[in-house]
Amino acid sequence: MFEHIQAAPADPILGLSDAFRQDTNPNKINLGVGVYKDEQGATPILKSVKQAEERLVDDENTKSYLSIEGEKAYRSAVKALLFGKDHDIIAKNRAHTAHTPGGTGALRVAAEFIKKHLPEATIWVSNPTWANHQAVFQSVGLEVGSYAYYDANAKTLDFESMLASLSQVPEGDVVLFHGCCHNPTGIDPTPAQWQQLAKLASKQGFLPLFDFAYQGFGNGLEEDAIGLRTFLEETPEMLIANSFSKNFGLYNERVGALTIVAETAEQASAAFTQIKRCARTNYSNPPSHGAAVVTEILTDDQLRSLWEMELASMRQRIQEMRTLFVNTLRAKGVEQDFSFISKQQGMFSFSGLTPDQVASLKEDHAIYIVGSGRLNVAGMTKNNMEQLCEAIAAVLSK
Ligand code: LMR
Repeated sequence: MFEHIQAAPADPILGLSDAFRQDTNPNKINLGVGVYKDEQGATPILKSVKQAEERLVDDENTKSYLSIEGEKAYRSAVKALLFGKDHDIIAKNRAHTAHTPGGTGALRVAAEFIKKHLPEATIWVSNPTWANHQAVFQSVGLEVGSYAYYDANAKTLDFESMLASLSQVPEGDVVLFHGCCHNPTGIDPTPAQWQQLAKLASKQGFLPLFDFAYQGFGNGLEEDAIGLRTFLEETPEMLIANSFSKNFGLYNERVGALTIVAETAEQASAAFTQIKRCARTNYSNPPSHGAAVVTEILTDDQLRSLWEMELASMRQRIQEMRTLFVNTLRAKGVEQDFSFISKQQGMFSFSGLTPDQVASLKEDHAIYIVGSGRLNVAGMTKNNMEQLCEAIAAVLSK
């Protein structure tokens, strides 16, 4: 039965992590997958998370199933984080949140929901986008199109082309936006550009789907929500897939959520029952632990302020690494201008390195970056910076 099955190609991001694990070079550096590293090169459990877990060990009294949509306290905490706790949408019951296994789980449920209830819709993703977006949407049979985003020469957002592409998107289609810290480019629209995009969405009548995986890694928790909150002033409907992998460091707990915003409370309730069906037929109900940790932190003043401090220090360290990277490359005699990297935000930047240069970094220097040239700046440290920049200088001068 299985003899005709061909092996699938390695995943462009997680496949790289597998190759990295097998590399025996003691000086190897992994700047592939989007995982935060501290100054020692470790991905530690946040102190706020540890403290929340200690409380949970004492207080948890069952391992029985959660409901399909997860715990109410978690779902309310997610909405408050996305919209701000006093947002009209919450008061009017126009949004419902389902706890999902990670942000990818949320995207997958969103994809199934769109395929089932908006079967004619094409989903539009930025060019470039996260390497898994297309595959998630195509796996449910959705048509995926792409819209202009990145100016590879100027290393900036090509906003005019983005507007021009999105002006072609017909009513009833879905457009995916990265809420902040665009993956892979590290370039986001400005507040004024978000406003223009939101107005365009309203004029065209397309449904925005926000992928919001890095809240707090750009400018701050509130600041990073500006895109989706601006849209909400113009568009009555939205889907939001968010993740707590990065901002709580809860990568392997798989904790995220899918939120639907509808025009009225009645529409939101009805649509949410369909989202629950998609979850039920997919993974039945979500895993509890990560969401319990997030809820404990978000609803406790002391834990929350500790977490916000830890998040700010992750954000600041990444920003420092951006500057250090640019300066160290210069000090190593690299003439190519990399200053754009210090202007970008979040974990990633597009380096502009060619596929050959990426391959040489891996083969000759045991430095792993994604084939597209995406660098995980959050994996850089003061200790690996010299080695990294020397290797980049070497591949650039080949
Ligand atoms: C990434 O883009 O590296 C992360 O979102 C991890 C993943 O699942 O690809």
